[in-house]
Formats: sequence, structure tokens, C-alpha cells
Amino acid sequence: MSVRSVSLTLRLSALVAVVAFAVFSVVGVYLYRSLAGQLQERDDADLVERADLMRHFLDETSNTAEITRDPHRFLDSASLDGDVFLLMQASDGTTLAKNTESLSPASHVVPLTRPAVQADVIETEADRSARQRVLSVSGRVASGELVRVTLARITADRSALLSAYRWRVLGAALLGAAITATLGSILIRHALKRVTALAEQARHVSAQNLRVRLDGAAAPNELRILADSFNDVLDRLEASFNNLSQFADDLAHDMRTPLNNLMVQTEVMLSQPRPAEDYQNLLHSNHEEFGRLARMVESMLFLARADHDEVALSLERLDLHQELTRIADYFEGPALDAGVQIAVSASGTVIADAQLLRRAVSNLVSNALRYTPPGNSLRLDAAEKDEWTSVCVTNFGPSIAPEHIDRLFDRFYRADPSRSSASGTSGLGLAIVKSIMTLQHGRVTVTSQPGGDTRFCLLFPNRPG
Ligand SMILES: Nc1ncnc2c1ncn2[C@@H]1O[C@H](COP(=O)(O)OP(=O)(O)OP(=O)(O)O)[C@@H](O)[C@H]1O
Ligand SMILES: [Mg+2]
Repeated sequence: MSVRSVSLTLRLSALVAVVAFAVFSVVGVYLYRSLAGQLQERDDADLVERADLMRHFLDETSNTAEITRDPHRFLDSASLDGDVFLLMQASDGTTLAKNTESLSPASHVVPLTRPAVQADVIETEADRSARQRVLSVSGRVASGELVRVTLARITADRSALLSAYRWRVLGAALLGAAITATLGSILIRHALKRVTALAEQARHVSAQNLRVRLDGAAAPNELRILADSFNDVLDRLEASFNNLSQFADDLAHDMRTPLNNLMVQTEVMLSQPRPAEDYQNLLHSNHEEFGRLARMVESMLFLARADHDEVALSLERLDLHQELTRIADYFEGPALDAGVQIAVSASGTVIADAQLLRRAVSNLVSNALRYTPPGNSLRLDAAEKDEWTSVCVTNFGPSIAPEHIDRLFDRFYRADPSRSSASGTSGLGLAIVKSIMTLQHGRVTVTSQPGGDTRFCLLFPNRPG
């Protein structure tokens, strides 16, 4: 099982356990240290008290011989228990009284001139394993002889107590961590129920059911953001999906008409023997339909490739007057047939892909030619401005109603329903123009005045990017 696949609850619970253990341990160490300090303080205060008492007894003792005569009087009066030891020595080092063999005076002896304090107690090694707290003070008997009193307390008891306490602290920290982790996991599970509820709603989303939206209103803030983002994604998906289905419907519809024509005409022709001229006419008509289908498929392929950024651009600086004149020459024949004149007024240059520019302008010109009433003219103009260079095609003719303007660049959209696919157009021309401009980081605009001009402009950015 990889770390990634471990459940979030488990991971968070483990994290909570580690954090809780760390916190409990820090608190435990603090308590342990303060207890150890207090115990030592209490023991040291006890040694200081006993030293004072011994000094007091010495004051009341006439001479050192009295001590050697009855050492137990001192040993008893110091009320020594099993852990405390006493050593009394004369100023020449002779032992006067003792209850242990292994005790030696501390390196520092508190002089007669001042009382002993806790800071005078030092720690030394009692034997190989035990430590002891030792206090040495000077005392004086009535005869004036000095006596060195050394008191010691073995810390073994305290160490044992502290060691037991250490284990208890560790046990408490572990138990605390376990309890916190368990409670944490219950709380986390409870919080994650909301996520599970959202996941359950998301499970109902499918290609057939893209209308489902997550109910973020009941979720906490953090999850509401997630639900809202997910709903936004669904909105976009639904719009794209609808576009795609519409596109597929339109495509099927637009291909069905020419294919039906081909079938019906061919069947009629085959129903009985006909003169060669009829077959020739049919082949001509079929050739036109095939041409139309081929153009449609080519347009679809172009749009698909442009959608996936698979159209390679070959940008170059183009002379606009030269380019537009060339396009006008190309449309000379159709323009003559339509009784329309093409006027060019262009200057400046543009950085663009020559093939794509020609294709976009040609699409606009072929539309304009179709809608310009005979006897009128069609204008091709271009100008370089600060930010944009525009290439426009303007014609006089029927205006486009405002409600169509936004949808004009959609695939298969025709503003005039009477001009169905039978008219020989596919409704893909402006969609291709838009794709071409998107590929070149430009855009296309359209204005159409009732009873006036319809003007399509290609805008190329002067600073690419
Ligand atoms: N100059 C214009 N004047 C009026 N209407 C226009 C003009 N240019 C385009 N249109 C409207 O925009 C619609 C879409 O144009 P588009 O070029 O995309 O498709 P099409 O010309 O019908 O087909 P295709 O260009 O694929 O042969 C046209 O059907 C027409 O209704
Ligand atoms: Mg067109």
C-alpha cells in the first residue's frame, strides 16, 4: 500500500497522534524537571537544617573527647535515617563520630562565620552506582576546638522515584496521544462526511446527465469553494458538450442533403436506359455535389486542427495593398457575374500567415459578393493603427439583424434560414475566419447598419502576444 493510497482519516489521525505525543512529552518533561528540582531542594534544605542542628549540639558540648566517648548521642540527635550519613572530624582530621565508612568531607566547608545555605550542598559520587548530596560545615565545641561536620544523603531513593515518574510520564503521553488520535479520527470522519456527500452527488454526473450540480450551500466554506469550482467546470463541460452535439447534428444534417440528392438522382437515372448526354449531365451535377462535400470535410478538418492548435503558422510581413489587390483579381470573374465592382484601398503591412490571411479575406469577399445587389461595389480596405492593423471587407446589401450578430461565427450558423444547405453554402466560412484570427491572436468584428453597409474587419495585433 503506497503512502498516497492511505486514507486521509488515517493520515490525519496519525499526524494528530504524533503532535499530541510531542505536546504531552514536552509538558511531561517540564513536570518531571520541576519535580526533580523540588525534590532536590527539599533534600538540600533538610541537610542544611541538620547541619544547623549539629552546630547547635556542638555549642553545647564541652570538648571533642565528649563526642568520642559517646558518638551515638550525636548520631541519634542528628536523627539519621537509612539514607543520611554523618561524619564528625577534629581539625586534624581525626574521626570523632561516623555512621558510614565511605563518607569523606566535601571539597568546600562552610566556615563558622556564616550559616549553611542550600547552595553549599554539592553532589558527589557515593560509590560506583549511587550519587549523594554532601554538605560540610565547621562547628565549635565549648572548649574552642573546631569540628568538621559532614552530612550526606544518598539520592538513590529520589532517583528511583523519578525513574518511576519518567515511565509514568511516557505512558501518559502515549495514552494521551492514542486518545487524542481516536477522538481526532472520529471528528475527521464526521467532517469528511460532507465530502462523501458531495462525492455521492458528483457520482450522478454523466454524459447523459450533465445538468447535475453539487449543492455547496450546505457545505462548510472550504468545501463550498470546491463545489463551486466543480460546478463551474460542469457548466463549461455542459456548454461544450451541447456545442459538440449541436455540431454533430448540424454536420449530419448538412451532409445528408447532398448525399440524398446524389442517391435519388442516381437511382432515377438507373431506373431506365438513357441517352449518353443524360449520364454526362448527372456526372456533372454529381461532381458539383462531391466538390461541395469535399470542401465541407476540408473545412471541418481545418477547424478541428485549428481547435487543437495543429495548424502551423508561417508568419511574415505582408504588403496589404499587394495582398488585397491579388484577392480582388482572383474574384474578378465571380464579381463580373454578380454585377459587382471590387474597390481596393489599402496601405501598410501586417505580420501574418499569407495563406491564412488570403483564406479569411476570401471567405469574407465570397459572402459579400453573395449579398451585394448587382450594380453596387464592394470595398476592401486596410490600415495600420497603433495597436491593431485592420483588414476590412465592406458591402452594401441586406443588413444582419442584431440577434444574429453574436452567433454568426458559430459553425453551420446562417442568419438567413431561407438560404439552407441547398444554396450550396455550408455555414462554416465565418467559423473558419474566426479560427484563423484566434490562431494569429487577432479577432474579427462585424457591424451591419439597416439599409446601409455590412462591414467585417480582421484585426491583427501589432505587438504579437
Ligand atoms: N456580407 C454579408 N451580408 C449579410 N449577411 C452575411 C454576410 N456575410 C455573412 N452573412 C451571414 O452570415 C452567415 C454565415 O456566413 P458563413 O460564411 O459562415 O456561412 P455561409 O456563407 O452561409 O457558408 P460557407 O461560407 O461555408 O459557404 C451567412 O449565412 C449569412 O446569413
Ligand atoms: Mg461564407
